[in-house]
Amino acid sequence: MNFKIPFIPEQASTLARDVDHLTFALVGISTFFTVLIAAMVLVFVVRYRRRSADEVGSNFDNSTLLEITWTVIPLLIVLFTFAWGARIYFNLYRPPADAVQYYVTGKQWMWKTQHPTGQREINELHVPVGQPTKLLMTSEDVIHSFYIPAFRTKADVLPGRYTSIWFNATKPGRYHLFCAEYCGAEHSRMIGSIVVQSPEDYQKWLASVPVPQAPAAQGQQLFTQLACTSCHQEGSEAKGPALAGLYGSAVRLADGRDVAADEQYLRESILSPSAKVVAGFQPVMPSFQGQLSEDGVLALIEYIKSLPADRTASNQIAPEAAR
Ligand code: CUA
Repeated sequence: MNFKIPFIPEQASTLARDVDHLTFALVGISTFFTVLIAAMVLVFVVRYRRRSADEVGSNFDNSTLLEITWTVIPLLIVLFTFAWGARIYFNLYRPPADAVQYYVTGKQWMWKTQHPTGQREINELHVPVGQPTKLLMTSEDVIHSFYIPAFRTKADVLPGRYTSIWFNATKPGRYHLFCAEYCGAEHSRMIGSIVVQSPEDYQKWLASVPVPQAPAAQGQQLFTQLACTSCHQEGSEAKGPALAGLYGSAVRLADGRDVAADEQYLRESILSPSAKVVAGFQPVMPSFQGQLSEDGVLALIEYIKSLPADRTASNQIAPEAAR
């Protein structure tokens, strides 16, 4: 019988090795000092034990050199591990510019995922090997946490906010997906798999799944349904700012601030429109809180992102002008 209890999960992403090296180094350094201190305690107990009943201890003047040494050496060690850890952290949480974006919505107690091409899955996500993959994540109810041990990446998934992680899977296979934040009675069953496939198999898989609608197309439909066009139109009479080219630009607000029009901004502007009013407009837009599912909000955001940037709307300022 060959029982193998793995010491660490499989390494299946480009960053897994880096995380493991740091972990091993920390365990190694801790073990070294634990053994060193324990051994010295034993040695000193034996060597400096009281040998006769009338023996008294001798005076000991403190040694400045010794104190500086045992302060400076640990300081250098922790600064080194800090710098090392920070470098890995930045790599883990800054997706590369060419990362392909997928969507994750957590709810009690399942993971809903969607591909950029529209395919939906539950408690599973298929991705091709070797593709930098970014997940844009939110929750419909409470705080969950999306954790893929084999990729050494994890992030909380929060209601009312977007968080993201990214990974680049290095070998095909099926990897555990866990919810790593206690989220209610069936938290421990909120599990799934990330299925990493060769690019060809992934294309085959994509083709085998019916596509309801790509998020941007679904968003366009919602945009019409909710009559967003009655205010968000081109021209000076418009009650709301034009949305073409908005995503990624800098927006001047009524209170003089400039904010970046990212996913978080678009989301807030749909659900709490008066939180950030664009300069030159009145806070007349109704909130769509409660009228849209998380998928709906994401679809609208994807539609707005897809609008071409060829016309410069009056509410936008050039990125150079914004700080
Ligand atoms: Cu979701 Cu724990």
